[in-house]
Amino acid sequence: MRYFILIFAVLVLVVVGVAGRRGDLTRNRPIQIFPDMKRQLKLRPQTANGFFANGLSSQLPQPGTISQEKSMLVGGKEVYSFEDAPVNTGRVTGATNYIELNAFPVTEQLLTRGHRQFNIYCAPCHGQTGEGNGITKKIGAMAVVANLHDQRIVKLADGEIFNTASNGKGVMQGYAAQISKEDRWAIVAYLRALQLSHLGVADDLAPETRAKLNIK
Ligand code: HEC
Repeated sequence: MRYFILIFAVLVLVVVGVAGRRGDLTRNRPIQIFPDMKRQLKLRPQTANGFFANGLSSQLPQPGTISQEKSMLVGGKEVYSFEDAPVNTGRVTGATNYIELNAFPVTEQLLTRGHRQFNIYCAPCHGQTGEGNGITKKIGAMAVVANLHDQRIVKLADGEIFNTASNGKGVMQGYAAQISKEDRWAIVAYLRALQLSHLGVADDLAPETRAKLNIK
């Protein structure tokens, strides 16, 4: 026991001697048994180098990343992402009212894209049909998930749904950081199609189809 205390005291002195006390300042690099990722080879911004083919360390935004300055064409007009424009905010320019209709023309291409993105980002909670019975509800990770066929939600303006998808609402988080703006509008368009699929009546069918199904 005596030896243990002695050896322990010597060890403490050695460690304090080498490593110093907590809070001491040093110009030396800290000892890293597993290298820290913040110290690694990197390119300084705005410098010339031979790493990239064009010689610049700062590269243009890569496909799939979401740039703050990016502009997009909406109805033939260039709109920057920082502008107070309906396509960015879901609201009427200079007002707080939501826009009624999608900021993009609803095409088959937009709907196909929206279908895909809805199934990736929204279906885990809202379910592929939008009834709010996705996997997170089934495993008990989310207690209440909105049924997107609720009268109240069907009646919301497109801009408000875009705003919810972007910034979240209540316990739902926003997806502006994960889903590009174009895709959020595509999801809104697809959600409208989903809602319509629940609201269909026999009168929507062509007369031939109704005759075939024997509906008067
Ligand atoms: C992690 C689970 C989760 C995901 C993923 C999710 N939601 Fe939600 N969403 C919720 C919950 C929970 C609510 C109810 C929020 C509340 O009322 O507190 C909700 C509510 C909503 C509402 C109703 C808002 C209102 O005005 O009451 C809309 C519209 C909606 N979500 C759309 C979407 C869309 C579009 C996506 C995909 C981009 C999405 N959600 C992804 C959980 C989720």
